[in-house]
Amino acid sequence: MPLIIRPSNPNNNQRQHCRWHGYPTAALLEQAAVQTILEAAELAISKRKEFHLVLAGGTTPRHVYELLRNQITDWRKWHIYFGDERCLPVNDAERNSMMAAQALLNHVAIPVGQIHIIPAEQGAEAAAAAYSLIMDTVEKFDLVLLGLGEDGHTASLFPEHDWGTSPGSSSALVVNNAPKPPSERVSLSAQRLSQCRKLMFLVTGINKRKAIQDWRNGIDIPAAAIKPENGVDILMEETLL
Ligand code: 6PG
Repeated sequence: MPLIIRPSNPNNNQRQHCRWHGYPTAALLEQAAVQTILEAAELAISKRKEFHLVLAGGTTPRHVYELLRNQITDWRKWHIYFGDERCLPVNDAERNSMMAAQALLNHVAIPVGQIHIIPAEQGAEAAAAAYSLIMDTVEKFDLVLLGLGEDGHTASLFPEHDWGTSPGSSSALVVNNAPKPPSERVSLSAQRLSQCRKLMFLVTGINKRKAIQDWRNGIDIPAAAIKPENGVDILMEETLL
């Protein structure tokens, strides 16, 4: 049973409703994340015959994806999107799409036409324009997975950059001069990421402690700009509090 922590400063969080879930170990967090994803899939498939999932990049979710691939679900009903992508060649090991393919997508029977990779090898401008058109085909994601960077970034929404928070923002943003290499990226905007039924952050590693503390203290980090109507769940190691 995870330790449920009430918002440290609810007034500061009133515009973003956060539910903080602390776990004693990363393994327990990963198991909870897998269960949450499966439950979201089951609910969406039972209600709408489809499950629209946005995958997080980085390294944190890799083991969640590896655990997920062994689970029983109707993969034919899954539709996969990415929260962001690095502008690297298609098969570059540092691509978020490559991590997801190796950990999950190459191992499950999701129809290839239902896996929507950001074509970041085309360069950020062309890829963002192309992906925005794909985003127009999905009104609301069923579940969005996100990571958290040490500086409070999420997806490729970085401090001192445009986070795409206004309703008129593009769904997919061009990101230049990212502080986390590579410098050129594509990211779903904060407003587009917020168009979802459920959103879960996965946060492990003591190096994320300051970002979590800033977030809980109401500091305006990029992760705090993600404001789905049903709030956000942050699954993290207890040591980060
Ligand atoms: C990326 C990710 C990024 C990531 C965080 C956390 O392309 O780098 O989208 O937002 O989720 O930087 O990264 P780790 O999980 O590796 O700590």
